[in-house]
Amino acid sequence: MIEITGLRLRNPAMLAAGIMGTTGASLIRVAKEGAGAVVTKSIGPHPKEGHKNPGMINLGYGFLNAMGLPNPSYPDFSYELAVAKKDAGVPVIASIFGGNAEEFTTVAEGLADAEPDAFELNVSCPHAQGYGASIGCDACAVEGITAAVSDMTDLPVWVKLTPNVTDIVSIGEAAQRGGADAIVAINTVRGMVIDIHSGYPVLGNVFGGLSGEAVKPVAIKCVYDLHSALEIPIIGVGGISGWEDAVEMMMAGASAVQIGSAVYDGMDVFRNVADGIESFMLQKGWSPGDIVGLAHRRE
Ligand code: DOR
Repeated sequence: MIEITGLRLRNPAMLAAGIMGTTGASLIRVAKEGAGAVVTKSIGPHPKEGHKNPGMINLGYGFLNAMGLPNPSYPDFSYELAVAKKDAGVPVIASIFGGNAEEFTTVAEGLADAEPDAFELNVSCPHAQGYGASIGCDACAVEGITAAVSDMTDLPVWVKLTPNVTDIVSIGEAAQRGGADAIVAINTVRGMVIDIHSGYPVLGNVFGGLSGEAVKPVAIKCVYDLHSALEIPIIGVGGISGWEDAVEMMMAGASAVQIGSAVYDGMDVFRNVADGIESFMLQKGWSPGDIVGLAHRRE
């Protein structure tokens, strides 16, 4: 059992925002497979179809995606969220996005009746015009949006950051100043693949965001730097597919982790990660407090 921003989780391995969080049924399924908490697909102020196909390719060492934040918007998603809340049995976190503070608060207010356990502010999609990383690269915007949502709700507010910035710490500090209860790091790393036979970029959107194994060292460094600078907890995400990855992320400074790409290789990933962390701690005689940030104490 761990506690993060006032939420009690049976284990530190949560579902990251993404396709598995699109319906109440899929969120419940992931919770039953052992996740400590589940995060929804990002929900915005208007229904959105997303980018042209193909929206995602498997590169073997990770996925490159440019889905384009497809979602039915908050009035329709409220129902799915309420379904998840009723039967998931673990905290359900609503990931939300918007183009400015007003849109973020509109979405948060619109979902509040379905009683999510926290909000995760997605200010970091690498390829959504007017929504994602253009906001997440701007410290003032991140502070303002975080403050606006924190002011309108008593629920914990988590802020998910982009690695596609020069200085992720300054953005994390802005979120903390705005009243964020936790930081989630990282969203996907901007990337592109070109088909050499046709010369065309492979994704419908031309470029996208890389996730999975390839980005783990990027995520570890971001979490490490954020842990050095911030007082609020950090939730680590990026390339976690086994318990060793999760332990590494915790040693960098994450109090909990999120898993996205690895779900496509099997839902048992949550149980494997949770059980693996547990046996590792038992074997070492350690508690979570001994692991979180250990790499900083070993410098
Ligand atoms: O890589 C990403 N893809 N990050 C997001 O935040 C959104 C997602 C999408 O829908 O394109």
